Amino acid sequence: MTKVITYGTFDLFHEGHYRLLQRAKALGDYLMVGVTTEAYDKARGKLNVVDSLVTRIENIRKTGFADEIIIEETPGQKVNDIRKFQIDIFAIGSDWVGVFDYLKDYCKVVYLERTKNISSTMLREQNSPIQRIGMIGTGRIAARFIPEARLVSGISTQGVYNPHIESAKRFADQWEINAYTTLEELYDAVDVVYIASPHETHYEYIWSALAHGKHVLCEKPMVLQRGQAEELFAFAKENRLILFEGIKTAYCPGFHKLLGIACSGTIGNIRNVEACFTKLEKRDSRELTDSIYGGSFTELGSYVMLPVLKLLGHHFENIRFDTIKNEKGLDIFTRVSLNYPMGIATATCGLGVKSEGRLLISGTKGYIVAEAPWWKTSYFEVHYEDAGSVDKYSETFLGDGLRYEISDFLSMINGSSSSEFKLTRGESVALAGIMEQFMNAENREEQ
Ligand code: CTP
Repeated sequence: MTKVITYGTFDLFHEGHYRLLQRAKALGDYLMVGVTTEAYDKARGKLNVVDSLVTRIENIRKTGFADEIIIEETPGQKVNDIRKFQIDIFAIGSDWVGVFDYLKDYCKVVYLERTKNISSTMLREQNSPIQRIGMIGTGRIAARFIPEARLVSGISTQGVYNPHIESAKRFADQWEINAYTTLEELYDAVDVVYIASPHETHYEYIWSALAHGKHVLCEKPMVLQRGQAEELFAFAKENRLILFEGIKTAYCPGFHKLLGIACSGTIGNIRNVEACFTKLEKRDSRELTDSIYGGSFTELGSYVMLPVLKLLGHHFENIRFDTIKNEKGLDIFTRVSLNYPMGIATATCGLGVKSEGRLLISGTKGYIVAEAPWWKTSYFEVHYEDAGSVDKYSETFLGDGLRYEISDFLSMINGSSSSEFKLTRGESVALAGIMEQFMNAENREEQ
């Protein structure tokens, strides 16, 4: 009996897939099909897969060509499958010519001609038209956003607006996009808006973008007052628009895995969360000189508060801020202490004092620890009373990690609500409320 194997994502099952499976089956007597998991696709940078694994498997089953369907979840699995299942022929489409030649040591490798003019990517774009994105702001984060957005299919960066026209032009030239001299011009040219301007300008920009019927992805902290967050979410909902706060950690696969394990009972009931993130900035940086909106907590507070809110919720009994200030009165180091009915938390951040950046989650049966940069989670450990027993977990974190939030934002625009739980509106509102409490505690005047 000749055994053939082929692999793929098989998203939005199409004629190209059907013909590939038909010809692969004809190469032998028994066809095995390996279908990629969602996590594996994400890890290899294939974002925006629409169909669930179950749907993709079901579509393959319905063709009647597959004698057996297996799951592909890790790199390097193909060699092991070929040996394990005693495969004679590995078949794949001609878009992969050469890539799988290394498998020739184990079996025959056949590249089947790809069917022309059809692909899952093409169908995804037809089903949901490309979202043209316009940026407001040209800072460091904006520069990171563009290459990351280019990796997400279904979205295209059109241009940028900055009230300082020269900055907008420089930025636009560098990234080969348009520079808009007015907001109206930007709104006329795009479907969605990404806001990466200074914190205090977010509220006005979000309001104006929503009023022009645009979906909004706004950098953290979205706003600095609870009432503003509530008002903006209500306005977005009324107009059936998506308003999305961009805290990249919330959307990265490793953090997601960590939360899943923390909440699974493995470490018992969670009683203490400690999160710390410090990043030294120059003394004359905007972050350390803007006497109203600068400082460590407005800059990094969203990151360190995120695991606290995700794990212990937003119904804390009290909150206290301890700060170390610079000569301008700005916090160069802040520790937030929160008490909950059944737990405590500290969230620490600093732009002028260095500390060990770590996330520690303590439970009644064990603890989870993720070292810096835990906010780009790629590795964490679970420890128990028996110091010899440690579970280790790793997950891919690609590039600057903004691709994950962009991809989730896009799927929400396209009607899927499956990412909404990663950072709920309630959590965003709570974060704005905590920012407001901090500003009040520091006697800073919001303008
Ligand atoms: N395939 C094919 N002809 C096409 C599209 C895909 O023969 N027009 C083959 C691929 O070469 C591969 C298998 O079908 O062997 C599964 O491919 P997959 O990557 O799932 O499909 P694509 O349509 O190429 O998906 P995407 O656009 O997301 O890359």
